[in-house]
Amino acid sequence: MSQKKRILSGMRPTGPLHLGNLLGALANWVNMQDEYECFFFIADWHALTSDYDNIDPIKDYKREIMIDWLSAGLTPDKSTLFVQSLVKEHAELFLILSMITPVPWLERNPTYKEQIGQLSNKDLSTFGFLGYPVLQASDIIMYKPYGVPVGVDQAPHVEITREIARRFNHFFGNVFPEPEVILTETPRILGTDRRKMSKSYDNAIFLSDSPETIRSKVASMITDPQRARRADPGNPDVCKVFDFHKLYTGADTVAEIDQQCRTAGIGCVECKQKMAQNLIQALEPIREKRAYYEARPELVEEIMVEGSNTARQTAQKTMEEVRQAIKI
Ligand code: TRP
Ligand code: SF4
Repeated sequence: MSQKKRILSGMRPTGPLHLGNLLGALANWVNMQDEYECFFFIADWHALTSDYDNIDPIKDYKREIMIDWLSAGLTPDKSTLFVQSLVKEHAELFLILSMITPVPWLERNPTYKEQIGQLSNKDLSTFGFLGYPVLQASDIIMYKPYGVPVGVDQAPHVEITREIARRFNHFFGNVFPEPEVILTETPRILGTDRRKMSKSYDNAIFLSDSPETIRSKVASMITDPQRARRADPGNPDVCKVFDFHKLYTGADTVAEIDQQCRTAGIGCVECKQKMAQNLIQALEPIREKRAYYEARPELVEEIMVEGSNTARQTAQKTMEEVRQAIKI
């Protein structure tokens, strides 16, 4: 039996992963693999809560995301990588937890209120969308993890999970530990247009982008808006390209660019080309591994199925305890 603390986290298959996902969550998960016993899964049922009217891409996104994960360094040798819908126990626990979850807890959920407001083009007045956190609670407590690494946006869901676990224990006896929120620091990575990087804003650089695509996306990035002409001095502090330099360019060169920008010693075109080159280079190992897995779809499929088989063993054990606790 491993002595490592267990963690669990998941992603919805709503699109290929971009740099924001890599820097915000995935790189962090990769690093946690040695210190923790890790369960990472693709929450495909959760994708249905908002995309039930557009289900065709979900299957491809699942494979793409698993390839993104593997390319970025998650590995079945260290972690249990699985798919929510392949472990049906999640649905059973969801049903049981829904019996004890007060509706006002769900209506109060900030993520719920925000999304209902934001995604006004979709009909989210469904039972399933309201119950999103109950399914998430099932995903989590099923594995009795010590903690759940998530960004701030997901923290309320883990809080509700703790409350649901507590309520279950209150009615049926002590089955579930309350999981900790392990807050992932998200470096402020902005999209190519300065808004938050997001697939839906069409401003993202994807892990799967080719060097040519990266070059052209970087070429169209917004720089210092005050710097209209090549001869105008610029201000790197307000420039998106410079933010990327800080992540992907060596410190000495960053200092040089800073100085050259302020004195109009370097033009934005050249500056962007340098940045694009460094970014392309940084993503090269990921691109290489991606090519390997893209050429082996059966292997990717097998990793998902085997990981799910492993996860199911834990899930089955938990469900035995749950059925005993609720006497059904
Ligand atoms: N709600 C999460 C998201 O949108 C995905 C998710 C589903 C999840 N179940 C989870 C995350 C359990 C952590 C733990 O990103
Ligand atoms: Fe931004 Fe570089 Fe142009 Fe300066 S030179 S404004 S840092 S792109």
